[in-house]
Amino acid sequence: MSYFLAPSLLSADFLHLGKEVEMINNSEADWLHLDVMDGVFVPNISIGFPVMKQVAQIATKPLDAHLMIVDPQKFIPQFRDLGVNSLSVHYETCPHLHSTVQKIKEVGMKAGVVLNPHTPVELLIDILEELDMVLIMSVNPGFGGQQFIPHSYDKVRRLRKMIDERGLDTLIEVDGGINLERGKLMLEAGANVLVAGNSIFKAPDPLEMIRELKTKI
Ligand code: DX5
Ligand code: ZN
Repeated sequence: MSYFLAPSLLSADFLHLGKEVEMINNSEADWLHLDVMDGVFVPNISIGFPVMKQVAQIATKPLDAHLMIVDPQKFIPQFRDLGVNSLSVHYETCPHLHSTVQKIKEVGMKAGVVLNPHTPVELLIDILEELDMVLIMSVNPGFGGQQFIPHSYDKVRRLRKMIDERGLDTLIEVDGGINLERGKLMLEAGANVLVAGNSIFKAPDPLEMIRELKTKI
């Protein structure tokens, strides 16, 4: 089964951020997941452009940005300038989702839509074919290291069916509480991108954990 692994920098040691990015560069990870929070849409604030710019300068893996902010369309050009490969916006923050998705693609990035745990995958039925990726949150967004929500498996299965029935190649990314065991179950349910924060960065040997998440599943 082929899939992508995207370590989430949110759980990294920010006092040694350069070292952490180098570790990901030298690992078997596929992408680097950047969590952007505004303290409005989610009850936490993470990193902003000055930090992401420096990260982008040394990162060699494609950048996968997850925007947990209101009015995400305002910042689309800045993420493009940063060199971001895939930009995902929350369904719950976009009243004009179709237009936001078109803008992301027009400037040359892959467009993803993120669903909170309570948002049904069926709400994407009329926009699915426009999307490069759907990100299913398996925790409530805002923090790393939270408890995994098991109902997420069912959402991934339902979304996989919607995508396959339409003959689309939309990626399904899962984010929150992913470790070896849940990663395997998520891939079986139909996901093809795994985000992992705590399970990698709090492991005794993060490089080895990345290797296991890529080879032991
Ligand atoms: C949560 C973020 C996640 C987070 C995942 O809002 O979107 O990317 O870093 O962390 P873990 O894997 O620790 O749940
Ligand atoms: Zn995320």
